[in-house]
Amino acid sequence: MSTRAADSRVEAATLCRLLGDWSDTGRTLPDALAAAIGALVEASVLRDGAILPSQRALADALGVSRVTVAEAYEMLGTADLLAARQGSGSRVRGRPGATGWGSSNTTEGRLASHTGHQTHSIDLTSGALPGLPMVAETLASLRAEDLADLVSGDGYYPAGLPVLRAAIADRYTREGWPTDPDEVLVTGGAQQAVWLIAHTFVSSGDEVVVEEPTYRGSLEAFRACGARLLAVPMGPHGLDVSHLARLLESRQPRLLYVQPTAHNPTGVTLPQPERRRLAELVRRHELLTVEDSCTADVLLDRGSRRPPWGSLLPGGPVLTIGTASKLLWGGLRVGWIRGSAGAVTRLTEARKAVDMAGPVLDQLVTARLLARADEALAERHAQLATSLERASDVLAEVHPDWTWTPPSGGTGLWVDTGTDAVALAERGRRHGVRVVPGPTSSVFGSFGTHLRLPYWHPADQFREGLRRLR
Ligand SMILES: Cc1ncc(COP(=O)(O)O)c(C=O)c1O
Repeated sequence: MSTRAADSRVEAATLCRLLGDWSDTGRTLPDALAAAIGALVEASVLRDGAILPSQRALADALGVSRVTVAEAYEMLGTADLLAARQGSGSRVRGRPGATGWGSSNTTEGRLASHTGHQTHSIDLTSGALPGLPMVAETLASLRAEDLADLVSGDGYYPAGLPVLRAAIADRYTREGWPTDPDEVLVTGGAQQAVWLIAHTFVSSGDEVVVEEPTYRGSLEAFRACGARLLAVPMGPHGLDVSHLARLLESRQPRLLYVQPTAHNPTGVTLPQPERRRLAELVRRHELLTVEDSCTADVLLDRGSRRPPWGSLLPGGPVLTIGTASKLLWGGLRVGWIRGSAGAVTRLTEARKAVDMAGPVLDQLVTARLLARADEALAERHAQLATSLERASDVLAEVHPDWTWTPPSGGTGLWVDTGTDAVALAERGRRHGVRVVPGPTSSVFGSFGTHLRLPYWHPADQFREGLRRLR
């Protein structure tokens, strides 16, 4: 069953994330909660008309008493920021027409380690890996004469530094998918790639099909351009292709976004027969499909490495997204889109309006590093295999009741805690550990018992983080 996400109701999990460190203020709890919600209303993060969670749901999610929430809501009512209506919940009374994020468009809680205000906590929210040593080595090896030609020009390459476009195209070609540099757009990380695709090809009200669950950053990008999200469930072996086939009999979505390899957050890789069925379906419906293959470089079984799914559809309506973040380092902020030359031209125009072009030096370093991709793959593989083994032992020791399926790749585990993971995350926050609960990866705020747990952290930190969640 595929349903649209409601957009005016704020899930308890969402509000919890938006509130962040609301209770660390030295005020009474109801006071602090009212002030934090009030600040979100005044900043139009919670928009006029948004329906807040019930008192009980918010109390459970925040791990406070219902009386605390009731008092906070009452204070907000008195301040004319909230209107309680019998039977229809508490509605925000904001500034009508003010621009702000919708209830489900929050980015709060992402990359918490980089916001600089949680120094004492253990951060298990980010799956971003530390860079490989070869990144610093390559940067240090650059000489003035390597840069002289580049610096003598204006430095703006909206579609990407030619040498990097060629290196990316060459990598696809060597994987059996002949690619021309004109079919590659270099972006500011894969996140910008998703954003550009969403804002170029999707208009407000268009239907976009995504896997349920899926990568949070893509949900944010599609929601931000007003897409109506249709969710197709993930089975134990990846996207439920039969479900998608049934959906496409009655709907004509604008775009499909999938991760056939090492899916984030579940870590599942779609088996070959299903990859073929998906390709046939996409061809039959001429459905513009975004293949996000960011995690394809971090597989746990090296032998399972496959050509990108899009190569099953030569000339098909596919945009494949890649990144240097997983293999090399997120700090390079280099991602890319592989698509038809026409699509790349269109996306390049959109990109100019965002940031004109990417940094030349980062692209130059990435191009050199991609020449050592095989070495980098071996290093990442060894790192992740060891980390996963250690993390499995720690999990079995600290939370033997949690269940998870070993991932085929990616940097996180999709763990079922068997309990309310939003409340667990909130409790963890108070005990100095940050984790991401499952609803952040869901169209509907589902997967309430799941956590997305990056497993590469040093074992003692990982153990201590998990212990604090106990
Ligand atoms: C599936 C997926 N797509 C896109 C991204 C964004 O990556 P980047 O760091 O290249 O922006 C990530 C990062 O975690 C991801 O997992």
